[in-house]
Amino acid sequence: MIILSIETSCDETSVAIIKRVRGKNIKFEVLSHKILSQIDLHKQYGGVFPAMAKREHARTLTQLIAECLKEADLLVERTNEHHLEMSKRKKLEELLSHEQEMFKALVVLFEGIQKPKIDAIAVTAGPGLAPALWVGVNSALSMNLIWDIPVYPIHHMEGHIVASLLSKKENIFEISEIKTPSVALLISGGHTEIVRISKLRKYKILGKTKDDAVGEAFDKVARMLGMEYPGGPEISKLANTSRKENIIVPDDLKLPRPMLHSKDLYFSFSGLKTAVMTRIKKYGDVSSEASAKLELNEELKKAIALEFENSVTDVLVAKVKQAIYENGANSLIVGGGVSANNHIRFNLQELCREENVDLYLPDLKLSGDNALMIAATGLLHIENGEKSKKKIIANGSWSIEEA
Ligand code: KG4
Ligand code: ZN
Repeated sequence: MIILSIETSCDETSVAIIKRVRGKNIKFEVLSHKILSQIDLHKQYGGVFPAMAKREHARTLTQLIAECLKEADLLVERTNEHHLEMSKRKKLEELLSHEQEMFKALVVLFEGIQKPKIDAIAVTAGPGLAPALWVGVNSALSMNLIWDIPVYPIHHMEGHIVASLLSKKENIFEISEIKTPSVALLISGGHTEIVRISKLRKYKILGKTKDDAVGEAFDKVARMLGMEYPGGPEISKLANTSRKENIIVPDDLKLPRPMLHSKDLYFSFSGLKTAVMTRIKKYGDVSSEASAKLELNEELKKAIALEFENSVTDVLVAKVKQAIYENGANSLIVGGGVSANNHIRFNLQELCREENVDLYLPDLKLSGDNALMIAATGLLHIENGEKSKKKIIANGSWSIEEA
């Protein structure tokens, strides 16, 4: 069983090809995995622009697929001239009517190479930026149309869960078997959710953010501090420096711990962002976000980065602890881009040690968006006996409960 996967939900274009390794447990070998980041493109605008992300995915995806096929030794060029059947070419053109450039690139690919030995395609169908998602979905549907390879739509956040469950020995990855019930903390640029997992593929949302996602809050606060997009890693670096230097946060720079005592598993991070702005204005004596960048001194930045990260971590840890108690959880899975944050990781490790709960954190190479996690999730669906889909709709707000 060989699976090709595509991820285009946000600002990384990624393709992977994996091969199932025989045995009872779900194991696989990675034949190829490539990630093209659009960060440099979006940096200049301070965030991700959906239309620009879509254009960039459409511009690069077909070439990336060809490169992965080549690396996986699955690309066989045709020696004779070959043209797509007229009726199929027409259908392809219809399918890609909004992606003319991708249509042209795919025709060159389909006419230039033989059908590769791929058994299934796994593609991120949501949640994420709808225009960006459509590029991946339409590319997968094109391969289904021309090569007749079955397609599995994958939920991006389920992908992050599976990424955290991967263990690697030599060149072989394995999806770990977890002790259930399990609780997952999903923290990314678009999501902050606590999910109950009674078994893999069965998800129930226990709580989520009422406004900003935690990664979004990191990015917005970073911007106020004059840092580049994506700001999460930058804040984390600065907060670590502050910790090393034993910086004490003055009382009037202290931030709230939003929803800490709400008794439910819901979050709210937008107030925290406003609280940071208030502190910046007071200390920097500035009136706008733009001028705040100029007035902030390094000491103030260090104190804010530290206090902000501490506030977010306190809330996340408290809610996860509550979820573990209320659900009698035996394991905790942490997934999504923010799971790269080492302060959050450390505190969740401490919590799981105290509560005697197994903890699954993603390898730092797989904490961000990538197609490997989508391929692995596709394999999980197939092993679970699930059927491929003929019609796939990219859904920007797809709930994990319907994954
Ligand atoms: O999962 P992801 O790569 O993309 C989405 O699906 O959204 O998550 C990206 C988010 C960004 O907001 C980024 O700032 C944040 O993850 N992030 C971090 C760290 N590394 C990435 N936030 C805090 N600390 C980090 N070390
Ligand atoms: Zn993500």
